[in-house]
Amino acid sequence: MRTITLINGDGIGPEISDSVVKIIKASGLEIDWDIQTAGTDVIETEGSPLPKRVLESIKRNKIALKAPVTTPIGKGFRSVNVQLRKELDLYANLRPCKNLPNVKTKFENVDIVVVRENTEDLYAGIEHQVDENTAESIKIITKSASERIVKFAFDYAVSNNRKEVCVVTKANIMKLSDGLFLNTFRDVSNKYPQIKTREILVDNLCMQLVQNPEQFDVLVLPNLYGDIVSDLCAGLIGGLGVARGANIGKDYAVFEPVHGSAPDIKGQNKANPSALLLSAIEMLHYIGEHSFADKIEKALYKTLEQGFCTADLGGSCGTKEFTDKIISNL
Ligand code: NAI
Repeated sequence: MRTITLINGDGIGPEISDSVVKIIKASGLEIDWDIQTAGTDVIETEGSPLPKRVLESIKRNKIALKAPVTTPIGKGFRSVNVQLRKELDLYANLRPCKNLPNVKTKFENVDIVVVRENTEDLYAGIEHQVDENTAESIKIITKSASERIVKFAFDYAVSNNRKEVCVVTKANIMKLSDGLFLNTFRDVSNKYPQIKTREILVDNLCMQLVQNPEQFDVLVLPNLYGDIVSDLCAGLIGGLGVARGANIGKDYAVFEPVHGSAPDIKGQNKANPSALLLSAIEMLHYIGEHSFADKIEKALYKTLEQGFCTADLGGSCGTKEFTDKIISNL
């Protein structure tokens, strides 16, 4: 039996984790969950929202499913999410954005995978105050980080039967930094002749995404553009309740929904477990459990097609009733 770390988070985290664990168990797949608490609930007892044991567990098991964790404001703790990405070198942020049945959106047939570089660019955190009235942030793009993220995007395209990878930059203005990312893309793409390539500037991409998103397949972007565009794409398919995600590195991978801990609906049986469930489905594909991933996805789709959903999608199911419906459709 495979052991996987489960960070059940705080806020709505424990409720949606409970739902996903039940659904996976009901599918017939046996997983030994190494449950690790983190977030605001453990600060008092352990002095940190991300105790060492959590990182040790992920290092041991290599794979984690993570529910959202609150970032305490103004208490001096670094975000658990940022810390995990740094400590485990999770360089690729993956966000598949695909329409779901009965989730009303402006577009049908959106099926975009956003691959965002997760470690450098303006997010390297190199900032300084030049003088009282001037601040400077430095944008770092390296060939090695660009190479590994572009390679990741092409490998993902190959193993998931995607047709095209599109690189997104502003290389017409930032000729050196974005130029390096673009040139690296051109070099790497030569090794994948079976995948079509496309180059687009980030401003044009944004306009086209809100007019005709169906044309895009896999997008690969430096960190800042990736952060913004991946939220735009999540909005195209119905928003937070259904947006899945993953942070992947060479040695470890952490699968998590895009949304936060939703403290406003904590403990009220209102949370939509779909985004965590879709992240878990992505995780099952990653570990090679394709048939269970497909089985669970079909049950989720069928449940939505039958008109059952939680309040955030306009339905009347609570978290528990929605979970039971999915289980009965397995
Ligand atoms: P949020 O995503 O928690 O909530 C925004 C709105 O969406 C709220 O109205 C909430 O009720 C709703 N919502 C979110 N997920 C939902 C779900 N599954 N079902 C139904 N409704 C849902 O964002 P917010 O309020 O900005 O952040 C709350 C906390 O979460 C903060 O401390 C933030 O730092 C943390 N956070 C953690 C993340 C993570 O662990 N990966 C990611 C984003 C935020």
